[in-house]
Amino acid sequence: MNILILGSGGREHSLAWAVKQNPKCDRLIVAPGNAGIAAIADCAEIDILDGDAVATFAEENAISFVIIGPEAPLATGVADRLRAAGLLVFGPSEAAARLEASKSFTKEICDAAKAPTAAYAHFTDADAARDYIRDQGAPIVVKADGLAAGKGVIVAMTESEALTAIDDMFDGSFGDAGAEVVIEEFMEGEEASFFVLCDGKTILPVGTAQDHKRAFDGDLGPNTGGMGAYSPAPVMSDEITQKALDEIIRPTMDEMARRGTPFQGVLFCGLMIQNGQPRLVEYNVRFGDPECQCLMMRLGGQILDLLQACAEQRLHEIKVNWADDHALTVVMAAKGYPGAYARRTVIEGLDSLPEDSFHMVFHAGTAAADGNIVANGGRVLNITARGASLAEAHEKAYAMAQNVNWPDGFYRSDIGWRAL
Ligand code: AMP
Ligand code: GLY
Repeated sequence: MNILILGSGGREHSLAWAVKQNPKCDRLIVAPGNAGIAAIADCAEIDILDGDAVATFAEENAISFVIIGPEAPLATGVADRLRAAGLLVFGPSEAAARLEASKSFTKEICDAAKAPTAAYAHFTDADAARDYIRDQGAPIVVKADGLAAGKGVIVAMTESEALTAIDDMFDGSFGDAGAEVVIEEFMEGEEASFFVLCDGKTILPVGTAQDHKRAFDGDLGPNTGGMGAYSPAPVMSDEITQKALDEIIRPTMDEMARRGTPFQGVLFCGLMIQNGQPRLVEYNVRFGDPECQCLMMRLGGQILDLLQACAEQRLHEIKVNWADDHALTVVMAAKGYPGAYARRTVIEGLDSLPEDSFHMVFHAGTAAADGNIVANGGRVLNITARGASLAEAHEKAYAMAQNVNWPDGFYRSDIGWRAL
């Protein structure tokens, strides 16, 4: 089977690495890919937001399965366009991708599904939003309604922070994403990410993880796309997992099907857990980055069978083969990230690192230049390891990180602290 993966980050490198281990995979192409992906697959320069261009490329290259990594092409209907061209696709329709692309839509679905989540109000007018904040008081959470590359959420500990967030959003700092806002009750508790495949009917859990959003050790500094993750998440006990499935995920999937827009793909459920009760923080309609890197380390080559069964609506026929293992990934980022940072700085030492089913350096933002690997983004490398315990995965990942010679990069030294 010839397979095309869309995307260019560490998530897509890990998907490519796992898919390639499956003997069913003949040719693997990743578009646009990056320098790490180029070592294991062919990379192709196509505009992945242009459904017609992707469909034409797939036909010309005898592709029989397309796996869509990031949310942007999903939100613009690339999966629909490819399905219309007769291709087998992993990834939800534009209508189902609204579970990530619109926070107010998700809230509306939660209301209809009676899924536990934060109380909220939805505004298109700044004055009304300000009145609501003054009335509710802080802490309070202000969210741009649309996609904002992970930057559209302000957890305001004071009323004035929340009011400033409203000014920024209605001033256009978040583009069209901020033209509507959702204001939410601040939820306390421990966060976890729960990943399930759904084919429109059957729901199949494929793992849990915990992310580290803040840039620096001790959960300090600005919010980022994620500085490291580990899987499984200890807080996701069997009981909490079952509650999340029964009270949040199943009712959401049923509501989407009832509306004629069934969800088909991976649903990433961000949960807040307090006193044994999970509540929904948000949905994403794709694998998390860097959570995916941990999940792929644990699932390996079977992921292709799982994604294919999901795309073919055969999830009821398939099981996940679990090992009793743990994976942890440390993100190496360019100094300055998530603010301004230098590009094209040289990274050395990668050749000396082990690459096997227990150790992988996934590339998130790299390029090849004059025989060197150079940084080409904010989050650059994902140093990922697997072990019989989280402590072992942690030790292996940090041993690798220490051998990367990149003076212009930094990483957190405490990934996994909560569980260790
Ligand atoms: P989101 O982009 O919705 O995942 O939000 C980013 C982060 O903001 C989440 O991972 C949480 O840490 C935090 N967050 C979002 N909504 C809430 C909420 N209602 N209460 C507390 N924290 C929240
Ligand atoms: N790591 C969080 C995300 O992918 O949205």
